Amino acid sequence: MSDSKGASSAPRHVAIIMDGNGRWATQRGRPRLFGHRAGAKRVREIVEACPGLGVKFLTIFAFSTENWRRTQAEVAGLMSLFRRYISKEAQALNKQNVRVRFIGDRDRLDDKLTALMEELELLTEGNSGVQLTIALNYGGRDEVARATRRLAQDVADGKLRPGDVDEETLPKYLDTCVLPDPDLVIRTSGEARISNFLLWQSAYAEYQFIDTLWPDFSTAILADILESYGGRERRFGAVPV
Ligand code: FPP
Repeated sequence: MSDSKGASSAPRHVAIIMDGNGRWATQRGRPRLFGHRAGAKRVREIVEACPGLGVKFLTIFAFSTENWRRTQAEVAGLMSLFRRYISKEAQALNKQNVRVRFIGDRDRLDDKLTALMEELELLTEGNSGVQLTIALNYGGRDEVARATRRLAQDVADGKLRPGDVDEETLPKYLDTCVLPDPDLVIRTSGEARISNFLLWQSAYAEYQFIDTLWPDFSTAILADILESYGGRERRFGAVPV
């Protein structure tokens, strides 16, 4: 779906690559997981700030398909953090009327974690406030490959004709099929890369790369970014009128 708003309004859908937890911890002489735990606290603050800032959809990159390459200890620590985060935050998120969805490939995640993810999705499915999407074992290329596999199956089953596959059809097979495209993608920690995040969906997104490490991110920084976004002109390939 590409129903993004134009200039001077708050972005409806903000996506964030939360980078810099490890460096933040190292700067303090602490283990990397200390940084991830601090990062999880920022997630709570930012979700709470969204309604006041006019952000309806928030999508955050929690774990990529490439993050399995980290040490076993860090991966296990992150998985345990996700389990704890979901168990601990479920009631608060529900009370705040937040609807939570997860995107990414669940096959490689452990059963306990996927059960918690499903429970949280079910618990919050009637909520109409902030639509929070957590990308967990997510990779944009992997998502397109999985979508293509399902699409090819529908063609093989005679449900879809090859000639009917276009820019409207393919996104219906993506994990994000019910979400609008992101208007703004923010990456913290000074890296200017998109690292396989929402590749199809961000074709016309604005990007904001900032030096702040994710555990130092705040509502005030987000508000500043949104203000500068309001001044940008989004043309979606057209010429100014
Ligand atoms: C990138 O920083 C961050 C991650 C791979 C993990 C993101 C996870 C969180 C913010 C924690 C909690 C999230 C939820 C949804 C509970 P990095 O480790 O690559 O930092 P570095 O580049 O400084 O090493």
